[in-house]
Amino acid sequence: MKILGISEGSHDACWCLIEDGEILEAHHQERHDRIKNSKWLDASLLPKADVVVGHQILDNVNARRKWSGQPPMKRNIPVDYEYNHHETHAWAGWATSPFDDCDILTMDAVGEWETATVHEVRDGVMKQTWGMKYPKSFGMPYSYVTEKLGYKPMQDEYIVMAMAALGGRYDREDSKIFGFIDAVPKISPLFQGSCHSEHWLFQRRYENAQIQINDKNDNRNMARNIQDHYEYYFLKTIQRHTSHDNLIIMGGCALNCVANSKAKSMKEAIWIMPNPGDGGSALGAAARHYGKKLNWKGPYLGTQVPRMDPHKIIKELLGGGIAAVCSGRAEFGPRALGNRSLLCDPRGKQEFLHPIYGIKKRAETWRPFAPAILSEYYEQYFIGHASQYMQFTPKHLSPDFNLVEHVDRTARVQLVKPQCDSILREVLELWYKETGCPMLLNTSLNVKNEPIVDTMDDYRNFIKWSGLNDLS
Ligand SMILES: [Fe+2]
Repeated sequence: MKILGISEGSHDACWCLIEDGEILEAHHQERHDRIKNSKWLDASLLPKADVVVGHQILDNVNARRKWSGQPPMKRNIPVDYEYNHHETHAWAGWATSPFDDCDILTMDAVGEWETATVHEVRDGVMKQTWGMKYPKSFGMPYSYVTEKLGYKPMQDEYIVMAMAALGGRYDREDSKIFGFIDAVPKISPLFQGSCHSEHWLFQRRYENAQIQINDKNDNRNMARNIQDHYEYYFLKTIQRHTSHDNLIIMGGCALNCVANSKAKSMKEAIWIMPNPGDGGSALGAAARHYGKKLNWKGPYLGTQVPRMDPHKIIKELLGGGIAAVCSGRAEFGPRALGNRSLLCDPRGKQEFLHPIYGIKKRAETWRPFAPAILSEYYEQYFIGHASQYMQFTPKHLSPDFNLVEHVDRTARVQLVKPQCDSILREVLELWYKETGCPMLLNTSLNVKNEPIVDTMDDYRNFIKWSGLNDLS
């Protein structure tokens, strides 16, 4: 039976088709309509299926929206079944994980009423053991600060996370940031009020707690403090409400790789599905309906294009160029993991990055790029936990790769294992053979605020715009 899971209506609409436990395809709508964070699915793109399953119970969503004074949400694509929002998050995590028994922590801004939950799986049976409801939320304060710092909430939280490393901890003597600090205890999950700046509850409660942004240090301190605030509650929740050595983290908050790294010391093993937010719940909805684990082979589940010749990519890199790679199936999730990537030598000087900053229109030159490394050489260069999907931030040990480390010497490493399905594995092997360097800088094949390249037409447009060499 073909089961089509869908998620749409809030942000990052996605679909996922499964059959007999195999994941046949999984796509982001934004890659097709070329609208960043596109929230509605286009029915004409969806594959045929025996049943269509939604990632949230619309009546619950609308009851919550009514309570907070928001208009009701409609559904674009009719569904045959719908499942609880946090349940589909949990299923997306467990069905793709290497675990049988485990605990699953899901944290997001808001979906239905719940904003954070713990499910446990014992002997193949999943059950919810803890939950926190709207308007308490871990994700909302973070999104609020993201917006206050001039970034897009529900999209740019990762920039705030990176900015946090540049900021100082709260100092009550520092009157410049006092307004923000005054607000922090109130926007904790213990505070009974919504934290979105547009929300009426927020407006009422915060009118006397204005956040003032006077200079870049204020921004950085604010980022640091919201990161600390999130980490405090995230780690406390794990400590208080999970007991199993295997932990799955899901929900949009699972993209906070700095916090994830701190959780690793508390658990034997952690799994995070590479698309842990609402988009990934399209897969979770399908898995929940199927009711069993899926055969997870990796995140390369999207649009298929012809495989590139890796030797062409190496030639470009050896010539000191930036290689624009569009090869095989697109990744399901926000990270470019080798099939839709810009690659370059990570051993250069800072000036070497100027063309990439230009292509990606990236203003924040303090924000580091990520390294992809052959897994067998990982321990020579890093200390701490890393994953195949850039979900943790280990410390960098070598002095030679400063283009891919942050100011605190951490890096959002992608471990590229021998079984990796991406062309990136072969490229790295050839690169290592030629240079003795097992690492490449890897960033997504897109311009800022545009979706990642999907098809060969998108690729050719990107090449035309960027002036990079066509490697197809
Ligand atoms: Fe969610």
